[in-house]
Amino acid sequence: MILRPHSFLRLYSSTAGNGLKILRTISEVRAWRRTALESSQDVSLVPTMGALHSGHEALVQAAKSLTDKTIVSIFVNPSQFAPTEDLDQYPRTLDSDLELLTRLGADAVFVPSVEDLYPSGIPLDQSRQVGAFVTVQGLSEQLEGQVRPQFFRGVATVVTKLLNIVEPERVLFGQKDAQQCVVVKRLVKDLHINSVVHVVPTVREASGLALSSRNAYLTEQVRQDAAVIYAGLNQGLELYRSGETNPELIINRIKDTIKTKFNDIEYVTVSDLETLQDIKGKIWPIKGALISLAVRVPNQFGDQTRLIDNILL
Ligand code: PAJ
Repeated sequence: MILRPHSFLRLYSSTAGNGLKILRTISEVRAWRRTALESSQDVSLVPTMGALHSGHEALVQAAKSLTDKTIVSIFVNPSQFAPTEDLDQYPRTLDSDLELLTRLGADAVFVPSVEDLYPSGIPLDQSRQVGAFVTVQGLSEQLEGQVRPQFFRGVATVVTKLLNIVEPERVLFGQKDAQQCVVVKRLVKDLHINSVVHVVPTVREASGLALSSRNAYLTEQVRQDAAVIYAGLNQGLELYRSGETNPELIINRIKDTIKTKFNDIEYVTVSDLETLQDIKGKIWPIKGALISLAVRVPNQFGDQTRLIDNILL
């Protein structure tokens, strides 16, 4: 018998260890939410795709400090993966995720099935998708969206679903995915969703490499070499702090550093923090800027993995 993640979950009781409630259906989440509301407890939501690491941990800890109750969702969201991407390969580590959430003292975890979250179905081929989707126009096409055109529509759609289901007072995202934060903030504002968005700083390895579930795809050597990405970003920041305001020169400095280890740089961009448009000519210190990048590095499958990172100026 093949156990799909959802049926596998049925093997668990609804509470793991110290009171972590495992909620599998939308109605279970709504009942849990209602109980919190009735006892005047406010709720934070931490959306994740699982394979939890210290970056996610920081979000849960921040959530716990913000509200009475913390709920984490674990859902590898098909609509943000293109048919050519790593949906099947994406790491799924539910046992250790539940252990970590128990240890952290999260109150509940929502592990929905694909069928429940996408009642109209969700083929990966976007041209065959039917039903309701959320698009945040103007913020989804550039940077990550240029390489992954379907990505932010998938993220915006699933985040909207999760916010509608949980109705949390607060929802937390990591700075690591800076464009995702900007897209979510805009959808919450434009769709009048009654949740406050919080952004938590990027958690890094000692080397500076930003933690990511996809780092599991890398060999130890590449993982070490990948420290050059954050080193490059920091050199860009240093250059800016020394008075350089020309984005091109800052970008070149970062690229030169990264090229000492990796040749396949997809983009390094200096952009406006709100519009995510490229800054041309001059960075105005009063406005600040976001430097973001994506680099393709070799992985242990003889293929490539995209690593993304960013830094604020
Ligand atoms: P996932 O990659 O699992 O990340 C879940 C959350 O953890 C995101 O807000 C992400 O920015 C944050 N995060 C990841 N690595 C981090 C790090 N090193 N430091 C700080 N925060 C970090 O992002 C997603 O899932 C999905 O797109 C999701 C929002 C769940 C929608 O499907």
